[in-house]
Amino acid sequence: MAFSRLLLCLASFIACAVAAPRVVPDGWSIHRRADPDATLPLKFTLAQSNIHNLDAYLLDVADPKSPNYGKHWTPAKVADTFRPSKETVDTVHSWLVNDAGIDVQKIRLSKNGDALHLDLTVAEAEDLLGAEYFVYRHSDDGMTHVGCHQGYTLPEHVSKHVDFVWPTTYLGSTSFVRRDAEVSSVPGFGRVSGAPKIPVDDVSALAAEGCDTSVTLDCLRGLYKYDYTPVSGDNNSVAVAEFSIEVYRPADLDMFFNTYAPDQVGHIPETISIAGGDPTAGGDLGESTLDIELVMGLLGSKQNLSLYQIGDAASTSVFLDPLLGAVDGSYCEAEGVSSQNLTDCGNKPTVNVVSISYHFNPDVTDPTISPIVQRECTEIGKLSLTGMTFIASSGDGGVGYSQSGFCQLANGTLQAGNPKGAFLGQLPASCPYVTAVGATSVATNKTVDDPEIATTRFASGGGFSNNFPRPSWQDDAVTNYLTNFGPNYADNIFNRSGRAYPDVAANGWPLVIAESGQFVKSGGTSASAPIFAAVITAVNDARIAAGKSPVGWINPALYSSDFAKAYNDVTNGTNPGCSTQGFNAAPGWDPVTGLGTPNFPELLAAFLALP
Ligand SMILES: *[C@@H]1O[C@H](CO)[C@@H](O)[C@H](O)[C@H]1NC(C)=O
Ligand SMILES: *[C@@H]1O[C@H](CO)[C@@H](O)[C@H](O)[C@H]1NC(C)=O
Ligand SMILES: *[C@@H]1O[C@H](CO)[C@@H](O)[C@H](O)[C@H]1NC(C)=O
Ligand SMILES: *[C@@H]1O[C@H](CO)[C@@H](O)[C@H](O)[C@H]1NC(C)=O
Ligand SMILES: *[C@@H]1O[C@H](CO)[C@@H](O)[C@H](O)[C@H]1NC(C)=O
Ligand SMILES: *[C@@H]1O[C@H](CO)[C@@H](O)[C@H](O)[C@H]1NC(C)=O
Ligand SMILES: *[C@@H]1O[C@H](CO)[C@@H](O)[C@H](O)[C@H]1NC(C)=O
Repeated sequence: MAFSRLLLCLASFIACAVAAPRVVPDGWSIHRRADPDATLPLKFTLAQSNIHNLDAYLLDVADPKSPNYGKHWTPAKVADTFRPSKETVDTVHSWLVNDAGIDVQKIRLSKNGDALHLDLTVAEAEDLLGAEYFVYRHSDDGMTHVGCHQGYTLPEHVSKHVDFVWPTTYLGSTSFVRRDAEVSSVPGFGRVSGAPKIPVDDVSALAAEGCDTSVTLDCLRGLYKYDYTPVSGDNNSVAVAEFSIEVYRPADLDMFFNTYAPDQVGHIPETISIAGGDPTAGGDLGESTLDIELVMGLLGSKQNLSLYQIGDAASTSVFLDPLLGAVDGSYCEAEGVSSQNLTDCGNKPTVNVVSISYHFNPDVTDPTISPIVQRECTEIGKLSLTGMTFIASSGDGGVGYSQSGFCQLANGTLQAGNPKGAFLGQLPASCPYVTAVGATSVATNKTVDDPEIATTRFASGGGFSNNFPRPSWQDDAVTNYLTNFGPNYADNIFNRSGRAYPDVAANGWPLVIAESGQFVKSGGTSASAPIFAAVITAVNDARIAAGKSPVGWINPALYSSDFAKAYNDVTNGTNPGCSTQGFNAAPGWDPVTGLGTPNFPELLAAFLALP
């Protein structure tokens, strides 16, 4: 009987932990009650060991003052350190067998020991979890998902060993998965309302334009004093991550390379397909094309680019888990909805730097979202421990979430259209193990020798996390901002104690690229992230050539005093949203443009000076 366990808990003072949001998540509605006889593959994601030490382990290899700087861990050491303990596995297993009477043959431990799987009928699962299962349907695309939005219960001695049970309250993030590229005026994938791209009729005429009206690779080189030819060959690596129907065409790359990077003509990125991803499938060209042309254009033919192509048009749950699981076998079965195909589990190559120009979830403390994004962020931290750098766009919605401008109303509802309400950050940018990149532009009639301003074409994303507290390494920078330049918004408008972002910025408008057989001016923080990823890849190249390790998690170094000269400070501009002007750019770090744009020679020197 549904809710039997909950009633038992209430009636008998048995301590129970209840994960219990009460409303159906935004965008979903109840389609019907789940069939009691249907098979429900349940997954108990087990709590990891030593997870409270993750920050300390990471700072040990990433704090520039640490004697162990750059001494990254092997994946095996990471897996061993965080694997759930025997006590954790035994406690959950014994509860299932001895208390709940489940046939021991039905229970399987995942191959890495981080999850218990069992197939029950819906009726049995409802009994076990004190839950009521429904089939939900999404209003955008009609996708369906089985879950129990009202929550579920576990006995307290079990719940502390379980991160969460799948499928339950989390219905997927389909309504929130979006690229951060500006869109064409032609309606397409995304249902977003960013600034439209501008077609360029005659690309040769652009040569006469300044970098305020058309940003070419040479403009970027001028702005950031970036002049670097890689020497480390395939000892170095970088990838762009592209999701769902975001794809590219080789002919577009060649059109771009012919004009701006002749040594790259005929080259394409090396595809690493994950969860059925296929870059030759039909789809939307806006994001992948932008990312690939910028990274390959800036790095040249002496550095190969990889393309993580993740999921396909039919992917029911396009978020970070398939990527994280594909490069880290210890994560595969810990996450995802039960229908997720886990064939790509730890068998895909890692790279030194990965650029992600997408957002997957609003940074809101909703019990259906927080455990998922916190676990994803932890996993990014674990991969960073092995020397990976995660770089993500900070978003194009200013202090609101996504180009649609979601803000949080007083009653907790998220509403689009920039209503008055609390600011909403975005993930993965707000994860502290990610380096978030905001967008700048050359001001009208200014040149690459003038300071850039925060982009005005759209509002560059930035703000304060609700899920992650402010890390020590940005404490001074953020305190300085809040004390000297912070706006006087009411306390409940943004979370002053949260992780603040972006960390840095790079040009985000109007980048000249070739897409769909023509040149266009495009952009978004979508452009800023791959530009910064190319810069860090060049830094890695030089460090590898000097016999040093790649930089891995860079945030503690970026904020340290050793890097004070590594940026062009951006002090002009705002990032409006939620019916406000958002934040102001200001001297030093600010939640619009972070620490500033890269001053490549200084940034390189600072990283080369580290062990
Ligand atoms: C790559 O690393 C290996 C081993 O350190 C070295 O022998 C080789 O020369 C490097 N290749 C390049 C292109 O630097
Ligand atoms: C790029 O990849 C190709 C194909 O794997 C390889 O032949 C070439 O050596 C690589 N180039 C560099 C610079 O690593
Ligand atoms: C998962 O992938 C395998 C191998 O590609 C395929 O045979 C199977 O049908 C897939 N399962 C689902 C549920 O998509
Ligand atoms: C929250 O408030 C908004 C605006 O007043 C309203 O439209 C919405 O229905 C409310 N949602 C809930 C769950 O009360
Ligand atoms: C900021 O940039 C805008 C656009 O170029 C310019 O009009 C304004 O004067 C600048 N403000 C300051 C304080 O420099
Ligand atoms: C930029 O320069 C053009 C041509 O000199 C001039 O007409 C325009 O007013 C200038 N715009 C700004 C914002 O300075
Ligand atoms: C603000 O951030 C802190 C630290 O992450 C968190 O504990 C708290 O729940 C957040 N507040 C809100 C209202 O989300």
